[in-house]
This record gives sequence, C-alpha cells and structure tokens, in this order.
Amino acid sequence: MKKNLTQYLVEQQRTKGTVTADVRLLLETVARACKAIGHAVSKGALGGVLGSLESENVQGEVQKKLDVLSNEILLEANEWGGNLAAMASEEMDTLHRIPEYYPKGDNLLLFDPLDGSSNIDVNVSIGTIFSVLQVPEEARQRDIQEIDFLQAGYKQVAAGYAVYGPQTMLILTVGDGVASFTLDKEMGSWVLTSERLCIPEDTAEFAINMSNMRHWEPPVKRYIDDCLQGVEGPLGKNYNMRWIASMVADVHRILTRGGVFMYPRDKRASVREGKLRLMYEANPMSMLVEQAGGMSIDGVQRILDIQPTGLHQRVGVILGSKNEVARVLKYHTADTN
Ligand code: AHG
Ligand code: MN
Ligand code: MN
Repeated sequence: MKKNLTQYLVEQQRTKGTVTADVRLLLETVARACKAIGHAVSKGALGGVLGSLESENVQGEVQKKLDVLSNEILLEANEWGGNLAAMASEEMDTLHRIPEYYPKGDNLLLFDPLDGSSNIDVNVSIGTIFSVLQVPEEARQRDIQEIDFLQAGYKQVAAGYAVYGPQTMLILTVGDGVASFTLDKEMGSWVLTSERLCIPEDTAEFAINMSNMRHWEPPVKRYIDDCLQGVEGPLGKNYNMRWIASMVADVHRILTRGGVFMYPRDKRASVREGKLRLMYEANPMSMLVEQAGGMSIDGVQRILDIQPTGLHQRVGVILGSKNEVARVLKYHTADTN
C-alpha cells in the first residue's frame, strides 16, 4: 500500500529528525484544512462560493468570497490544535494569537489562504500556500508580537502548498527534499505520489506576465528578449511561454517539469518592491524550490536570506531551474556594476 501523509511525516520524524511531533501534528491540521478548502472550491456555483465581497484586504485588494472562507477554515482548524502560538495571513491586517482558552505551542503559521484569486471564477487552478516558523526563544514567555514573525526564510521549518486543480495535491517540505501527495477523494487521504521532486537545472520554458513588459527593469527585459530570440539568439534554443496567474499552479509546473517563474519588481508605483508577498508567498515557495534543487532570487539576492521588515512586505520573485535563474542574477549584477 502507498504511504500517506501521516506515515511520511512519522518517518521523517523517526529516521531523519527533520520534523518534531509538534510540527507533524500542525502539518496534518493544515492539510486537513486544505482538504476542506478544496471541497468548497470544487462546489463552485453550487456551493455559492464564487464572486466577490464588498470588503478589501489590508493591501487594498477586493476580497473574493473564497479568500475569506479559506482564511476562516485555516484559522478555525488551527486554533485549537495546540501546536501554535499565532498565525498571520494575507487576508488579516495583523497577527492572530491563539485565544487564551486553547492550548498553545511554539510554532507560527503563515498562509496565503487562496492564491490565484483572479482564477477562482473561471475554474482555473488555484491553491493555498503556507509557511511554518518557530517562536523565537526570547518570545516564549510573553505574548507574540508581529516582530516575532519577521524571520528570514531560511529559518522556516516547513513550507508547502495545496493546489486545487484537475487533481487536488499537497506539496510539502520539512527540510529534506520535497514530497507530493495526491488527495484520494474517496478515502479522504493524502497519498504520497512522489517522494522527491527535482527541478531540472536547464529549461526552455518561462512564465511572466508579458503585459507588464514596458514597466520592467533592463535585466528582466534583456533576459526575456534573449528567450524570445530563440535558436538565433544568445541562448541558442527556442523557448515556450506559460502564465497561469496563480503562483501555486505556475510553481507546481516548475516543480514538475522545470522552467522559470518571474514576477519581478517593476517601475509601477504599486510594484516597485514587487507584487508577491515575502512571508507567505515568496518564502515558502523559495524553500520548496531550493529543496527541489532550484534557485530563487529577488533579482539580486537569495530570497531566503532577506531579513523581513513587515508582515505584508512585497518582493520581486525569480525562481526555478538553476542555470536560468543564475543567468537572470548575472544580468542583474552586471547591470548594477
Ligand atoms: P493572490 O490571489 O493571493 O492575491 O495572488 C495572486 C498573485 C499570484 O498568484 C500570481 O502569480 C499573480 O498574482 C498574478 O498577477 P497578475 O494578475 O498581475 O498576472
Ligand atoms: Mn497569492
Ligand atoms: Mn491570496
């Protein structure tokens, strides 16, 4: 019989020591919440879950019904689990402490409850992204503050996402490679379908929103120009382009068959620091990509080394196949020298 999520995590805990009992139980709770979100997503119009609300989130984005519902599912599932001290999310202005009357643990959970909002109503793959950090030593005897979340991505103890697509899948790292699980909907269990995802070092496929070309910085423009020139250009091969506009789905393709994903910062005022959020989009995805042998940068530096300054901080993201991302890095550093 194939292994399931619980067996995989127990084995990681027992033989590799990459996961503690606390984190193992926390991940099982997150996975259970993702199952519930996937269920709501799949109901679509029948469940009355499509469409927008009147409200906006802290970043001024209109909230979809599923953004809010998914946030509630994750909060509710994780509040009483006993493995967390606090949570933070794209859909909440500030942190959410575990209420007094519930048991607490020494972990912090961050999430983008529903990634790819623009794809919800058109039945295209969307997902949930999550990141697990430990409560810093100095904060263990007091109330958690926002600053306790502001840890560089290399300190994550686990990261992953669920993708709600033709299959519902969970992709996870606890710091020892990347495993993927497929939801067996009849049995209700996450079945291990790949123990070690590996991103090929080379690729001939890129993902970027080309409609922003006129706003890009020169190194990004140079790289995409090179790709577009195909066999006649400096890269000597023809490139294919894909852009799903759900980071989860684009990164999932890259973890499966390689490629480069780019949402660079650009000259628009709203994207000067980037569009994607460091703490619950870029950091967890960067940990997964690195654990699968890929590379992830903001243009000039490794994303996992960035010291965060805010819960909702944005960052440029260029990730995927190692040799291509290294080339983009080279273009950026050549540009600043
Ligand atoms: P979210 O739905 O959580 O706000 O994230 C959407 C993000 C990301 O998933 C995707 O890569 C990007 O926004 C798409 O942006 P464009 O619509 O600008 O292409
Ligand atoms: Mn998102
Ligand atoms: Mn979102």
